[in-house]
Amino acid sequence: MGVSRAFLTLASLFLTSTHTAVSNAQQIRDSPEPRNFARRIHSSATLIGDYVYIEGGLILQKTDGINLAPGPSYGPWNTVNNTLSIDMRQSWSSDSVAIRTIQKPAEAQPRAIASLLVEKARGEYYLWGGFAQNRVKVGVDGVFYKFTTDGKGGGSWSSEVPKNFKAMRVVQQAATVSINKTAYMVGGLASGWTDPDQKGEQAVGGMIKYDFDAKAFINDTEEWSPIDSTIQGGRAEFLPGFGKNGLVVLLGGMQLVLTPDPVHKRQQNFDFHNISLFDPVSQKRYWQIATGEVPLGTPRHDFCAASQRTADGGQEILIAGGMNPWGQDEAHVDAYILSLPGFFWTRVPDLPFEPRRFQTCVAVGKRQVLSIGGEPGGVKIDKIKENATVTDPAPQGLMLFDMTDLKWKFEYNANDGPYERPDVIKNWYKNG
Ligand SMILES: *[C@@H]1O[C@H](CO)[C@@H](O)[C@H](O)[C@H]1NC(C)=O
Ligand SMILES: *[C@@H]1O[C@H](CO)[C@@H](O)[C@H](O)[C@H]1NC(C)=O
Ligand SMILES: *[C@@H]1O[C@H](CO)[C@@H](O)[C@H](O)[C@H]1NC(C)=O
Ligand SMILES: *[C@@H]1O[C@H](CO)[C@@H](O)[C@H](O)[C@H]1NC(C)=O
Ligand SMILES: *[C@@H]1O[C@H](CO)[C@@H](O)[C@H](O)[C@H]1NC(C)=O
Repeated sequence: MGVSRAFLTLASLFLTSTHTAVSNAQQIRDSPEPRNFARRIHSSATLIGDYVYIEGGLILQKTDGINLAPGPSYGPWNTVNNTLSIDMRQSWSSDSVAIRTIQKPAEAQPRAIASLLVEKARGEYYLWGGFAQNRVKVGVDGVFYKFTTDGKGGGSWSSEVPKNFKAMRVVQQAATVSINKTAYMVGGLASGWTDPDQKGEQAVGGMIKYDFDAKAFINDTEEWSPIDSTIQGGRAEFLPGFGKNGLVVLLGGMQLVLTPDPVHKRQQNFDFHNISLFDPVSQKRYWQIATGEVPLGTPRHDFCAASQRTADGGQEILIAGGMNPWGQDEAHVDAYILSLPGFFWTRVPDLPFEPRRFQTCVAVGKRQVLSIGGEPGGVKIDKIKENATVTDPAPQGLMLFDMTDLKWKFEYNANDGPYERPDVIKNWYKNG
């Protein structure tokens, strides 16, 4: 009897532990249930129709609501392998909104700090650059992966073989913007993360384009570039209401030297005072001195940016957080709005709770910006393991900023009114 009891006990222990291991593995998700969500960073996102699609990046999560789950290659971080979407037709709250997971083939190489090349008219986007798990160089087979949305929050992945794909340097952190039938990727950084053969880091100069119709990459940097140097971790925003074709504004980022190591040498950096713009069709470059509460802490990179347009053709760009690479590896907590056409900066309420970098922002509704993920700086991966307080205080890492009443919120309002400038900016225009 004793023997069989002992056997049973051992057997049930064995079963219990096996069961735990299996269920832990099953519980690691691209979008864990809210109580198990800890952090999401390095993802890219876009709004297509009524849905926000979130691609790639890394996720930190718990399996029991308390302890962090293990990850295979970046300490406790796991690669986000599938496509996520959020339904924006109804109002929701960050702590309970459902995030849908859509299967992505492994060949599409889930990746972090990648560019999304978005052709909104067709409801499609491609993944460009970034780094994949285990530092496998992305796109070496010359195959390009495209996601086609279905208008219902889902969609499917397919592949294409575009022209000149293999000739393009794989980079992370390019300032990317998609306009009409072309995507523009300015600068970026090649490193041991994007290419295991890369020794040290290499800033990439100029700009490349992807032509959605011709299915071709173009690098005409030798003939024309919107910048003389390089840009990493900056942001590009399209201003459709300005000039004949609309203008692209380049904001922030680092400007690293083109000679390989050591690239973290300081150069003249893109500050937020002298703003660079270009017309991608006429290939004219412009600059404009901005006034007001100009964001400090230059260079500032990997902040988030998104904009809303006013009925009179103006546009306001929100920037929030980011980090300074020459600083203490800490993120910024401040946020600003650049108002156009006035080129006037207004400091708006700081990010709630804590500083944030490597988050991504998308304009949603008529007057809101959705901020996805991010982390405070200075949190080292090895320390994260020891401290469950690294959990994002923003539920599921989702925050909303209302561009009119200038408030950070944790509720998305699907029935917001048309975008109107906040009073502080209205008054500035009124007073000339
Ligand atoms: C993504 O796939 C990799 C490789 O199979 C795996 O190690 C990782 O845990 C997966 N991520 C998630 C969130 O399931
Ligand atoms: C584009 O061309 C320039 C100039 O030849 C080169 O330095 C840069 O690396 C190229 N960009 C990419 C992404 O391949
Ligand atoms: C985008 O398309 C509009 C409408 O066809 C056109 O007027 C504009 O010049 C285009 N702008 C760019 C940057 O391609
Ligand atoms: C602003 O930057 C441009 C280069 O992008 C430069 O040519 C111009 O002189 C600068 N303006 C001022 C006032 O510093
Ligand atoms: C761990 O959490 C405590 C309490 O919030 C905090 O003071 C400390 O800085 C955290 N440590 C790390 C390494 O994040």
